[in-house]
Amino acid sequence: MNLKTFIRDIHDFPTTGVVFRDITPLLKDPKAIKYTEEALLDLVGNQKVDKVVGMESRGFFFAPMLAARLNAGFVPVRKPGKLPFATMRQDYDLEYGSDALEMHSDAIIAGDKVLVHDDVLATGGTAQATCRLIEKMGGEIVQCNFLLELDFLKGKDKLGDFEVKSLLHY
Ligand code: PRP
Ligand code: ADE
Repeated sequence: MNLKTFIRDIHDFPTTGVVFRDITPLLKDPKAIKYTEEALLDLVGNQKVDKVVGMESRGFFFAPMLAARLNAGFVPVRKPGKLPFATMRQDYDLEYGSDALEMHSDAIIAGDKVLVHDDVLATGGTAQATCRLIEKMGGEIVQCNFLLELDFLKGKDKLGDFEVKSLLHY
C-alpha cells in the first residue's frame, strides 16, 4: 500500500509557508489504519517494550494500538496543566518562544524499555523533550518512531544516539 496517497497536503496551514501533512484521510480508511499499525510494529521488530509513550494529541492515535500489540502500557505526554496527578515537566524551545510537556511522575519505572511514538517528526523539539522526561525517570528508550518525518527540518539530529525510524519521509 502506498501510504503517501493517504496523506493530504494543506498549503499555508497553520501559517503562511507551511505545508501541513494531514493524516486524517489515512485515519478514516480502515485498511490504511491496519497497514500503518503493522508497518509501525515492523519498525520495532522483536525488541522488548514495557511502555509506549505517545505525545498529545496526534501521537495518541497509534501509540495505544502499538502498546496493546506489544503487550506494553501506554503513557500519554501532555501539554501543561492537563494531567491530574503529580507530574514531571520538561521545558523546550520553539522557533519563537518556548513550551513545555508533562508526564505523570509514576508513568515510567526505572529500567522500563520505552518506545516513543508520534505522528510527525518535524524540528524534533517535541520528541527531544519527551526523551528527556523519560530518561529523567530512568526509562531506557529503545526506539523513537513516527508515521512521517520532515527530513529537511533535521529533527533526527536532536535525538542524538536514539534509534529513529519513520514510515514516510518528506
Ligand atoms: C505536531 C506533531 C508533533 C509535533 C512535531 O504536534 O503532532 O507532536 O508537532 O513538531 P516538532 O518536531 O517540531 O516538535 P502539534 O504541536 O501541532 O500538536 P497536535 O498533535 O495537538 O496537533
Ligand atoms: N507538525 C509539525 N510540522 C507539521 C507539518 N508540516 N504537518 C503536520 N504536522 C506537523
